Amino acid sequence: EKGGHKHFMAKEIAEQPTVLADAISHYVSTDGTAITLPDGGLDFTQYDRIVMVACGTANYACLTAKYWFEQIARLPVEVDIASEFRYREPPITARTLAIFVSQSGETADTLAALRYCVDKADKILSVVNVQESSIARESDMALPILAGTEIGVASTKAFTCQLNVLALLALKAAQDRGVMDQQTLSDHLSALRNLPGLMNQALGTADAMKSAARKLAQAQDVLFLGRGAMFPLALEGALKLKEISYIHAEGYASGELKHGPIALVDKKVPVVVIAPSDPLFDKSVSNMQEVMARNGKVILVTDSKGAKDAGDGVWQVLLMPEIEPFLAPILYAIPAQLLAYYTAVAKGTDVDQPRNLAKSVTVE
Ligand code: F6R
Repeated sequence: EKGGHKHFMAKEIAEQPTVLADAISHYVSTDGTAITLPDGGLDFTQYDRIVMVACGTANYACLTAKYWFEQIARLPVEVDIASEFRYREPPITARTLAIFVSQSGETADTLAALRYCVDKADKILSVVNVQESSIARESDMALPILAGTEIGVASTKAFTCQLNVLALLALKAAQDRGVMDQQTLSDHLSALRNLPGLMNQALGTADAMKSAARKLAQAQDVLFLGRGAMFPLALEGALKLKEISYIHAEGYASGELKHGPIALVDKKVPVVVIAPSDPLFDKSVSNMQEVMARNGKVILVTDSKGAKDAGDGVWQVLLMPEIEPFLAPILYAIPAQLLAYYTAVAKGTDVDQPRNLAKSVTVE
């Protein structure tokens, strides 16, 4: 049942290219030029704001999607954690699209947040894995992420499949709102269809990941840094690591380093920097230098251009294939997952059933 893997988590990480390729073909027309949504569709010209609500890893998928919706569709997005959202009772206008993201579709706080938005938002959209779930049932429209059953408590393939659906929604929003031409859309869709192949390449870096993980397994604290759409991934990398290896980890926006967390840096605190080469890369290089100047040990996840531009002094480089910036958060989820997985394996913790955690949180 684990398909030759030692853990369900390993199987679920490994099957992402296949699962994602199927999910992409479900949502992209066979000629590769259009995004296909269920009947009743979605018209993004009707909204002037999106509110996205979720918990845990699903919340980090929403935070990533905020960058996409705002940058490519110019549509303002507010992201909130369900437990905060529901009791804050935020004002919701009729021109708001409310999106709820949940693997299980049963998370109590997310469901309560959804119910709060009924009769307030114009439309309730959910992005779920379990299609028969309460959250799917109580939405105006439920989009399945098509990840297949996820058994490992730490979410992996559900995260990348959530990102896939959210990326497609952002492209659709850009097209509806007239801020993206057909050619650009087709280019993005063709890049998306190439993504599973790149994910396979990322999965091929297991040996390098294991060697970095053996270093992380010695640590008591680990920092994850990312900028732009890689910032939510820094949060996700830290969450994955603490969930299954019980190592204390914090994710920060790289630019926040000097506003506090740099006080933690010394030779015992590895700093994982998630930074594909992009227009902001030199800023990440300065952040790494600040870490290295304090004897901090940097593990840099980047592409070959980034590795060259980073210069000397990096403890270990984990090389990813080149990818267009728009899709980088989906590809770079793989190293975040693999680092956590191999660190937990090195520590001998229970990867699929981490202590104190449940797969579905149906009580608040
Ligand atoms: C992290 C993890 C949790 C869930 C969260 C939301 O690996 O699994 O943080 O992401 O409990 O669960 P769903 O998506 O079922 O609402």
